[in-house]
Amino acid sequence: MRVLGIETSCDETGVAVYDTARPGSAGLRAHAVYSQIALHAEYGGVVPELASRDHVRKLLPLIRQTLAEAGLGLDEIDGVAYTAGPGLAGALLVGAGVARSLAWALQVPALGVHHMEGHLLAPLMEDDPPQAPFVALLVSGGHTQLVAVEAIGRYRLLGETLDDAAGEAFDKTAKVMGLPYPGGPQLAALAESGHPGRYRFSRPMTDRPGLDFSFSGLKTQVLLAWRNSDQSDATRADIARGFEDAVVDTLAIKCERALDAAGSNTLVVAGGVGANKRLRARLHEIAAKRGGRACFPRPSLCTDNGAMIAFAGALRLQAGQHEAAAIKVMPRWDMATLPPLAAAGDWGLGNRES
Ligand code: KG4
Ligand code: ZN
Repeated sequence: MRVLGIETSCDETGVAVYDTARPGSAGLRAHAVYSQIALHAEYGGVVPELASRDHVRKLLPLIRQTLAEAGLGLDEIDGVAYTAGPGLAGALLVGAGVARSLAWALQVPALGVHHMEGHLLAPLMEDDPPQAPFVALLVSGGHTQLVAVEAIGRYRLLGETLDDAAGEAFDKTAKVMGLPYPGGPQLAALAESGHPGRYRFSRPMTDRPGLDFSFSGLKTQVLLAWRNSDQSDATRADIARGFEDAVVDTLAIKCERALDAAGSNTLVVAGGVGANKRLRARLHEIAAKRGGRACFPRPSLCTDNGAMIAFAGALRLQAGQHEAAAIKVMPRWDMATLPPLAAAGDWGLGNRES
């Protein structure tokens, strides 16, 4: 089954074709992402109305480009998957409207995908995918969650952030030190040249039991450290390193606890912060020490993209799930309300031939 995936929940227009007849990463026939970062940079954050309008401008050309790269005609698409939420309502509606119209015209089934389920399943697109049960760490700009995954669609929330998401903490901390939006990846790059240990920030909520997170206090600690410093480039890098070490340590400690709580040695990591090199290295180390493994999507599939939506949609469409031809989006959407893909006890990734 060849599924066209469309992602427009925030400031990236993503399109991809996933083909379930091809195993693993070969299933990804083509994918393209257009980032609106330059458009929003002068405002210091995403402007929802500008985001919607830019999706309108970019989505159809990107669909044509992706199909051409996949060497497929529209008539060779068997289903359409789009992000139905969570996200910005106007931006979601652009993707949902185009996806639904296309599916209607082509007379193929269509399905609204949960953006975080897309992130969560992205590592399974790689070769030698992990099998459930496993623990997933979802770390994006909007979410920080630890989820026990029993099967596709069977998700149990173990813990989440009580305030800022990990990516949001990276972005806000970067802003405090004068880095341009979106600062997360730039802060991480700066941390590479910083000296470890010159600045030490707290590891929030690791001194008590539990799997929840709180990152908002960290940016205040950084703000105070930055204000009281010489504000040189070297100091900025040292503070960036101290901040990154604090976030990585905190996430790592909670991941170990979550693996213990779930009785698992398989950790799946997804979402934009999953592209962070130091976090990847640390979580690989933790999993290896337990005799298990940590699985990540390739860095380009950690941040928002159409491939994860095509893949998650393909699994559900292939299992016979699809929705009536209504354009519906869910700007807020609890992942625990998703229908399971397979019967209890069955993992759901089973036979992927079509
Ligand atoms: O998953 P994503 O692309 O969008 C959301 O669904 O939120 O995640 C974006 C977030 C941003 O906050 C960005 O700063 C962060 O991921 N991010 C990183 C890195 N790359 C992206 N944070 C730390 N290190 C990175 N290398
Ligand atoms: Zn995302």
